[in-house]
Amino acid sequence: MRMVDVIHKKRNGQALTDEEIQFFVQGYTKGEIPDYQASAFMMAIYFQGMTPQETAVLTKAMVDSGETIDLSGIKGHKVDKHSTGGVGDKVTFIVGPLVASAGVPVAKMSGRGLGHTGGTLDKLEAIAGLQIEMSKEQFIDNVNKYKLAVAGQTGNLAPADKKLYALRDVTATVEAIPLIAGSIMSKKLASGADSIVLDVKTGSGAFMKTLEDSEALAKEMVAIGNNLGRKTVAIISDMNQPLGFEVGNANEIKEAAAILQGENVEDLRTLSLEIASHMTVLAGAFSDYKEARDTLEANLENGKAYEVFRQFVIAQGGDVSMIDDPAKLPQASFHIDVESEQEGFVAEIDAESIGIAAMYLGAGRATKDDQINHAVGITLKKKIGDFVQKGEVLVTLHADNATPKDSIEKVKQAYRFSNEKVERPTLIHKVIRD
Ligand code: URA
Repeated sequence: MRMVDVIHKKRNGQALTDEEIQFFVQGYTKGEIPDYQASAFMMAIYFQGMTPQETAVLTKAMVDSGETIDLSGIKGHKVDKHSTGGVGDKVTFIVGPLVASAGVPVAKMSGRGLGHTGGTLDKLEAIAGLQIEMSKEQFIDNVNKYKLAVAGQTGNLAPADKKLYALRDVTATVEAIPLIAGSIMSKKLASGADSIVLDVKTGSGAFMKTLEDSEALAKEMVAIGNNLGRKTVAIISDMNQPLGFEVGNANEIKEAAAILQGENVEDLRTLSLEIASHMTVLAGAFSDYKEARDTLEANLENGKAYEVFRQFVIAQGGDVSMIDDPAKLPQASFHIDVESEQEGFVAEIDAESIGIAAMYLGAGRATKDDQINHAVGITLKKKIGDFVQKGEVLVTLHADNATPKDSIEKVKQAYRFSNEKVERPTLIHKVIRD
């Protein structure tokens, strides 16, 4: 088989055979197919697309290019969640304990963040002592005992995707739905869960800006998951503004702990319950969505989910007094109020700008070697739909520098106002099952 013939066939809009796709993925991973042919091939896919069968075969070939995590030592149906990324997204810290409170094991392998705020692991490390490095045996043992463990990703998962994603990034071929879907799903499938719930973000702060594109991506990912034997559901949720009120590492842990203790931050609580309900139904813990939702809501109210979170923190060596009393979490030296320069209804809060403002404070990394500052972050005081008087506080910056000028500027740019009343955005746009 010659790669040039495979590129030619795709360029002309024909569907490829399983063997042709596997030939490309294996050859490219081994370095036998050069970047220039892979680039041409990615561009051909960008313009001609892929059938669901081709996308599933591409994904499977990327999974098979590296190691897969064997979770068979964990008793019960293992269900995972994945978010396509958003600012203030601390849903994992609420969903994990919630799902575990229904007896469903959650074995979460997570990464660190690059850009904006930290990743799941960075946020957890705001809790002093909490260890995310552990042996595979310890990880499995913790899931079996406490129903919840979170660890750093180990192993060489989907190396073909790693290499291809880097190539797509510099050849203007990232934004092809079959390629994005295959890329995300290859990493999820290699992580070993039996079922997957995807939180596909839509809006100005999301990778996919329109509902139409988000829905197309969600459908493609659900089809891949189901095609490859994992029950998969996708929720399309709004990212036209940050989720909840807190952005930053300690800030997000504090807000998640508050929800688990029964506080109602509406968008965050609702989305967490939605995701957790679908996860527990997929795992077979409940017969339908309503039963799952009612039970999980009760587990938020009666403290069961919070107790799971506490046990998880203790099991991984964290100082549990920091979540019982968030004043003990790392605190920034300065709290700077940013006031509105005009009056009106908040019409837009560009999530990406808020994320960048948090990164300037030190909450995220500009390069992969940067150190995270767990104490700094942003508290939003106004969200879309709120009426604001001139001089009212829009956000409070928690900073270790008394005059964080760049962050103040960025936050001001994020807010847009309207003289007309503005409706709050719909939080959950759609649920896609197959
Ligand atoms: N995230 C991924 O992991 N892969 C893509 O292709 C795009 C976003």
